[in-house]
Amino acid sequence: MAAESSAPPVVVIAVDGAAASGKGTLARWLARHFGYAHLDTGLLYRATGLALIRAGKSPDDETAAIEAAGGLDPSALDDAALRGEEVAAAASTVAAIPGVRAALLGFQRRFAAAPPGGKPGAVLDGRDIGTVICPDATHKIFVEASIEVRAARRVKELRESGADAIHARVLRDMKARDARDRHRSVAPLTKASDAFLLDTTELDADGVFAAALDFIMSRTPSGV
Ligand code: CDP
Repeated sequence: MAAESSAPPVVVIAVDGAAASGKGTLARWLARHFGYAHLDTGLLYRATGLALIRAGKSPDDETAAIEAAGGLDPSALDDAALRGEEVAAAASTVAAIPGVRAALLGFQRRFAAAPPGGKPGAVLDGRDIGTVICPDATHKIFVEASIEVRAARRVKELRESGADAIHARVLRDMKARDARDRHRSVAPLTKASDAFLLDTTELDADGVFAAALDFIMSRTPSGV
């Protein structure tokens, strides 16, 4: 009889939500709390968008976008330029191209199945983690907040990073990006039916973390 593997299954926490909903901070804090690996999947789309901008190509250029996504080097995810709003807009354009999503799928699934550093779990944050990338995730959290609060958070973040940010413009760009992300034909931003809905409009980062932890512990009291 074949010996059964004794390795415990990897715990996967999927955190999805719109721009500046608070999902990134929550995912980082959860990963730190549990000692899990963290992947900000938005960086993959941002790096693809940035590669096109740097090559002087349009983010609508499907062939170039698929090639850029397929050739991404993980070191590209550390580039500080990824944080800008022009890159965010390019990211959401390339993210609507099915071939780009297909090119990035394997990397994300491998990260979840075998987290780097032999960690016992992985936290992935994005738009489609609970619906497409890891439909069998151990825990799924869908984070949302009003558009006004999200735009104000993004303005604060941008200003803290030294960038110029005009509220009305950030709000306008965020609305356009929300619309693209929610209405695209592949992997649109939507809550998985089995995800916990966490509205962060009235919560600070500590409150968001506490609510998410309550949810996780209520399902698996022994931890995760
Ligand atoms: O930080 P923010 O929430 O503003 O954006 P992000 O998570 O870095 O994602 C940038 C863009 O990448 C989003 O607007 C989406 O269009 C796309 N994205 C996606 O399609 N799927 C993901 N899993 C993550 C990001």
